[in-house]
Amino acid sequence: MTEVIVTGANGLIGSVFCDQLASSYNFCKLDISNPTKPVDITKADSIEEALKGSDAHFLVHFAAFTNVTAAWEQTDDVDGSAYQVNVVGTQNLVEICNQHQLHLIQISTAYVFDGEKPTPYSELDPINPIEWYGKTKALAEAVVQEKAEHWTILRIDQPFRPDRFTKLDLVHKIADDLRARTLSGQFTDHFVGPTWIPDFVKVIDWVLRTSQTGLFHASSGEQWSNFELAKQIQQIIGSTTQIQSSLLNEYLQSHNRPYQKNTALSTKKLIAQLDFELTPVVQALAQTQF
Ligand SMILES: NC(=O)c1ccc[n+]([C@@H]2O[C@H](COP(=O)([O-])OP(=O)(O)OC[C@H]3O[C@@H](n4cnc5c(N)ncnc54)[C@H](OP(=O)(O)O)[C@@H]3O)[C@@H](O)[C@H]2O)c1
Repeated sequence: MTEVIVTGANGLIGSVFCDQLASSYNFCKLDISNPTKPVDITKADSIEEALKGSDAHFLVHFAAFTNVTAAWEQTDDVDGSAYQVNVVGTQNLVEICNQHQLHLIQISTAYVFDGEKPTPYSELDPINPIEWYGKTKALAEAVVQEKAEHWTILRIDQPFRPDRFTKLDLVHKIADDLRARTLSGQFTDHFVGPTWIPDFVKVIDWVLRTSQTGLFHASSGEQWSNFELAKQIQQIIGSTTQIQSSLLNEYLQSHNRPYQKNTALSTKKLIAQLDFELTPVVQALAQTQF
């Protein structure tokens, strides 16, 4: 089986990727919590050591500092873990990919945009991150685009799994809060582009199968307000809890952390080339175990 190197293989998305494609690829996991062979991507020699003897042609890079609020608390701190993992870690991987002739598949985010565009963002829209997590991911994208010899960048937004994971995704959080009757007011003026992780895994598999390079948006391509998404989840789980609506614009008046108002992504470029159809969010939610 073809060997594929993976960072962040134990995370929300990386773990689905490794499970779903376990019979197609042999995964070499660069894993910081491996008790015998930990690999910290912020340390170049630790990655180099782990790749000795590998004959892989691809490296799928999921590992990241993903806590947006914790990253915001580190704003402008280049010694902080958000910058170190997201930027320095990616720089290290780019160098190693170039040395080993590896095609780097970089997982990125809609948070590279400022969220001011009312409709889904295309790959041609200029990036303008408004908080530190988005800035570090934008810097990582720049390193990949400027320095990597073979690369693909896949941007996603609000990924959700078919099952429950230790780190809850947005749709499982909403379902839990509905059941516990603790769901706060849901924004009618905040829009997201949910990403069904099993489809996203198929998109990465498509890149592995076709060696496609370049920048692609790889969410569902749909745009949902938090309020409409919560109502859809409510219907699926059969909850009778009343969902209150609220406004991000009002919430922002008493909160300092910046929020993008819209992170939905257009997938027109992707679906023009993809050899399978993306699952509509309503169908994906119906397949989700809540
Ligand atoms: N989740 C989202 O809402 C979202 C949205 C858009 C884009 N993305 C992007 O999608 C990718 C995957 O996100 P995710 O939500 O699956 O992430 P996650 O669940 O937070 O997992 C992150 C992974 O990175 C690993 N990691 C952290 N620091 C490391 C280091 N110094 N060296 C090696 N590995 C390290 C962690 O290892 P341990 O588990 O061993 O600590 C973990 O496996 C990221 O690039 C993220 O930016 C995520």
